[in-house]
Amino acid sequence: MKTTLEDLTAKIEEIKTQLSQESNINSEELRIKYLGKKGQFNELSKLIKEIDDKKTAGQLLNDLKKHIETSIADELMNRSASSADRQQWIDLTAPGIRPSVGHMHPISQAIEEVASIFEKIGFTRVRYPEVDWDWYAFESLNMPPDHPARDEWETFFVDMPDTTQPIEYDANNPRKRHPSLVGGKIVLTPHTSNGQVREMERLNSTPPIRMVNIARCYRRQQDVTHTQMFHQFEGLVVDKGINIQHLKGTLDYFAQEFYGPGTKSRIRPFHFQFTEPSFEVDFSCHVCGGTGEKDGDKCRFCKSGWHEVGGAGMVHPNVLKAGGIDPNEYTGFAFGWGVERTYTLKEGLNIDDIRLLYSGDLRFLKQF
Ligand code: FA5
Repeated sequence: MKTTLEDLTAKIEEIKTQLSQESNINSEELRIKYLGKKGQFNELSKLIKEIDDKKTAGQLLNDLKKHIETSIADELMNRSASSADRQQWIDLTAPGIRPSVGHMHPISQAIEEVASIFEKIGFTRVRYPEVDWDWYAFESLNMPPDHPARDEWETFFVDMPDTTQPIEYDANNPRKRHPSLVGGKIVLTPHTSNGQVREMERLNSTPPIRMVNIARCYRRQQDVTHTQMFHQFEGLVVDKGINIQHLKGTLDYFAQEFYGPGTKSRIRPFHFQFTEPSFEVDFSCHVCGGTGEKDGDKCRFCKSGWHEVGGAGMVHPNVLKAGGIDPNEYTGFAFGWGVERTYTLKEGLNIDDIRLLYSGDLRFLKQF
């Protein structure tokens, strides 16, 4: 008669019961009896060819094998050891069991790398609040309340009493709405640009400023390239005579350090309220070398030769003013890119859904 899945389950239970009652044989004998060539497990496995649902049968047998292996290991550890076991246990020539060692999350590794690249050229690594006043996240960045540009940031607001006083916005004197003077709404920071005016304040509005602010950000977004929690790194340089060439030189330096020699950067005109002029920043694709073509076809990784990583631009005079810096005396550049986005474009990573990074799936994370 053909063996059914029920028969197999019953036999598995029998083996488990029998195994739990073993008390007179040492672990090596247990291993031979249950897992040896002619052992119970192998004998049972032969029945699989008679069973229709081979997938389930295979899973049941795998579970049984794991159960036997764990039981034998436990037995070895726990049993008041017979002399045979004891001899085996203290066999100093046996190879040790390597404890599994964890490692930093790939995004933490990327953050360390980004920080060290900028530290080499004199940037100071800072980190500013991830729950911050609306003032730092928007208003000080030249985005008055109700400004339509705010919509792009799909922000989470913290549900707490609004302490904002109805004070008229004055572009020439944005400090009028400074939260320490008037209060304001609290947000989960949707970008690291909240660090710009904070850094100007930390340095008492006295350039030179060269900061890289790396922190978590939050937005109401979720798809293969967006997560609700992600990281950005924000660069800010303010000094006398800073111009676009300094920005472009910094982008090229980062591209080569992070992605390897030969990687190029490109800036395209864009709009941000807090920079003027503003740009989107692209890096050349390592697969097609920036040509957009691979083996006579369109490059499947980038489709155009370039990957967009974030924004940049020359700091808007109103932002300098909000940080107490005279825009007639000083100029600056700023950039802000997604760590996840920047990291997943590295050669050989092949991560097509950034949500995997936060799935907590060790099979995925162990690869990095
Ligand atoms: C900004 O956030 C600007 N603050 C950047 C900036 C700074 C411009 C300084 C000028 C000067 P944007 O919204 O485009 O810009 O976001 C920048 C990058 O953050 C994106 O290109 C992307 O790489 C990353 N990013 C944005 N939203 C998400 C998200 N939900 N998940 C993962 N990465 C994201």
